[in-house]
Amino acid sequence: MASVVVVAATACERPPVDVVQTGFRGVALEYVENPRTLEDSINAINDRIPQVQPIPAGVGDLPVADPGTYENVQVLGHLSAAEFTLTMNAVTQWVAPEAGCNYCHVVGPDSVNYASDAIYTKLVARRMFQMVQDINVNWSEHVGEDRGVNCWTCHQGQPVPTNYWFYTDENQPLRWYLDRDDFRVQGPVALASQGENLNTIKQTRGAYSLMINMSNALGVNCTYCHNSARFADWDESAPQRVTALRGLRMLRNANMEYMVPLQDVWPTDVAEYASHPDRPRLGPLGDGPKMMCATCHQGAYKPQYSNPVSWAESFNALTQLGRPHATAAPAADEGGEGG
Ligand code: HEC
Ligand code: HEC
Ligand code: HEC
Ligand code: HEC
Repeated sequence: MASVVVVAATACERPPVDVVQTGFRGVALEYVENPRTLEDSINAINDRIPQVQPIPAGVGDLPVADPGTYENVQVLGHLSAAEFTLTMNAVTQWVAPEAGCNYCHVVGPDSVNYASDAIYTKLVARRMFQMVQDINVNWSEHVGEDRGVNCWTCHQGQPVPTNYWFYTDENQPLRWYLDRDDFRVQGPVALASQGENLNTIKQTRGAYSLMINMSNALGVNCTYCHNSARFADWDESAPQRVTALRGLRMLRNANMEYMVPLQDVWPTDVAEYASHPDRPRLGPLGDGPKMMCATCHQGAYKPQYSNPVSWAESFNALTQLGRPHATAAPAADEGGEGG
């Protein structure tokens, strides 16, 4: 939804625009932006800021790790009971405000079982907790030392984020967001007669379409990162290009370590889709969803224009690597369609 808002706002830009110097001094890297467009988008975000429910009275500071508190806590055992409750309220607002707790939990008139792993969304959510912890702890050079990301950054109150991708064919450029690395396409010499550039036209086309995909994800031009006279030259590139490269590595790690291993968790049973109508099918080649720069950035050079609503601060569930509580069931999947 955010991207819809941003697109609508940029379609009719009012002058004057600002010219922002992005590169090192002297290399003439400039980027044009319209401050009013940004302001509109930030206001649109502020209007949708979710209210996280306060912690109910009577919930103490006892650690979740205490035996007897919970039965099946595998990654949030480092929290106090109060933090745990706050976290459950927060993920409900961030991911499934309409469905509520039972989007992930078995909460019916006849049975209430928060410990059960029977619904696939709970298995996905547990993996998402681990992914967000990894991103905030180990990739702070990209997502910021004191900021980081939370579930809202990507989900924005919807179970399925706006931007993700599947395979369309084996060699599609988006594979660079997953497991491809051979990126350099510019030859080391100017003229073909002076030496060889072994890169194919197909590779080059792929590289450029990826660059366009990246630019759109951030809502910027090529010159936000490059000196367009010498695309390959790192010395003359803007510092944002280095940040982008770190983002690329972070993204590959997140896709390989967290999204791809969920392959067998996504339901294939059509009946399960019926209870989760938002859930798209697997891709045309049968693979599960994978992330891209736009999953977080959604058309902004910093996700949510760095609005605190998508920071991880004050959520120990998201800023520390978690651990199971003392009585947690073994990590092996124990039942549930997806398990
Ligand atoms: C987006 C998915 C999601 C939503 C929505 C959600 N939870 Fe959870 N909940 C989880 C996950 C994942 C775990 C397991 C965490 C772990 O393994 O460390 C969990 C665990 C729990 C547990 C511990 C159960 C036990 O004995 O092991 C309780 C209690 C709980 N949630 C309550 C709630 C309540 C109350 C709500 C609604 C306000 C809620 N949850 C909403 C994903 C969710
Ligand atoms: C970096 C982006 C990102 C972040 C951060 C993120 N998610 Fe996700 N999440 C995704 C993507 C992409 C999908 C796959 C979309 C789909 O189901 O097709 C997904 C799917 C899910 C689903 C399954 C939705 C469904 O109905 O199939 C749940 C539940 C979920 N995430 C919970 C969480 C929770 C809880 C957090 C925070 C701890 C979180 N996510 C943080 C990107 C993210
Ligand atoms: C957000 C920053 C960013 C933007 C915007 C961006 N690029 Fe890049 N570009 C990079 C990074 C990072 C690499 C290096 C990737 C690698 O080495 O894996 C790169 C590499 C390249 C290369 C390959 C250079 C070589 O070594 O052969 C070309 C060509 C290129 N970009 C062109 C473009 C074009 C054209 C655009 C605009 C459509 C663009 N880029 C937009 C960050 C960016
Ligand atoms: C997990 C979410 C996430 C993903 C995925 C992600 N980013 Fe970021 N990115 C962030 C956050 C958060 C910041 C802002 C950090 C801050 O405020 O200091 C950021 C900042 C940046 C910046 C610096 C902007 C500036 O002007 O300082 C660039 C450039 C960037 N990202 C490029 C990329 C590219 C390119 C990709 C994909 C290859 C990508 N990011 C993927 C979360 C993400």
